[in-house]
Amino acid sequence: MEFKNKTVLITGAGQGIGAGIARHFMRETASVYLIDINSEPLNSWLTKSPSAAGIAEVFIGDVTQPEFIDSTVESILAKEGKIDILVNNAGIIRDNFITGISAEDWDNVLRVNLKGPFLLCRAVVPGMREKNYGKIVNIISRSWLGNPGQSNYAASKGGLVSLTRTLALELARFGINVNGVSPGFIDTPMTRGLSEKVRQHLLKLQPTGKMGQPEDIAEAVAFLASDRAQFITGQILHVDGGKSCGILSF
Ligand SMILES: NC(=O)c1ccc[n+]([C@@H]2O[C@H](COP(=O)([O-])OP(=O)(O)OC[C@H]3O[C@@H](n4cnc5c(N)ncnc54)[C@H](O)[C@@H]3O)[C@@H](O)[C@H]2O)c1
Repeated sequence: MEFKNKTVLITGAGQGIGAGIARHFMRETASVYLIDINSEPLNSWLTKSPSAAGIAEVFIGDVTQPEFIDSTVESILAKEGKIDILVNNAGIIRDNFITGISAEDWDNVLRVNLKGPFLLCRAVVPGMREKNYGKIVNIISRSWLGNPGQSNYAASKGGLVSLTRTLALELARFGINVNGVSPGFIDTPMTRGLSEKVRQHLLKLQPTGKMGQPEDIAEAVAFLASDRAQFITGQILHVDGGKSCGILSF
């Protein structure tokens, strides 16, 4: 029960990886706060988990809106007095070849995937500094290494890697660890939205031959958010069944 007295804030917890991370922390602490832009999926899985219902508080809103983020963090601090762990998970894709990406899709992907984590970090850091304690885990993607058809998404996640590493340097002296988890091909509504042809192609390139599950990502997040990882900061942990090791050519 290493998170028993911790207060945890997770974005994009309505489904997929964010919901998996939320369930993981909710097994150990009553102080779990969830953000999502959509209320329906979030309330739906919360009410289907009777043991979990009632121990997580939900804030419905958009991570790209500074007023929403600041007021959410303020109300958690008013109740709990602290936020120990922030997981920046909310993210979107708008995939296309470079010439097919509209300026709007570029902006939206950068806003949700990069501006959102910036706003959350900016809001929680003063409280973490005051306590001389904090864990921030950003959900990246192995696409940050470069991925055709995802220049907007790859740029947003590459930016998130740089934000992670820079904040690690800025905040280490205040007892705040900042790390990233970089998922590979994980079974979520996001990847279920891909065409069957693309899914099969991605599976063929997958060394394990199968997709990962949200719980695989949650385990890595929990480790980096724990005191077991107290001397680890500024690192990106690839949780991708080996995909980032190189090119699978057989
Ligand atoms: N699924 C994968 O294979 C995979 C791989 C690599 C990285 N990731 C990353 O993991 C994270 C979660 O992915 P997922 O597959 O669970 O996605 P998903 O689309 O299934 O879930 C994302 C959640 O974020 C919420 N969200 C989106 N925009 C938001 C906003 N502006 N404000 C608040 N909430 C918002 C959505 O409502 C949804 O509940 C994302 O950052 C994604 O880039 C996923």
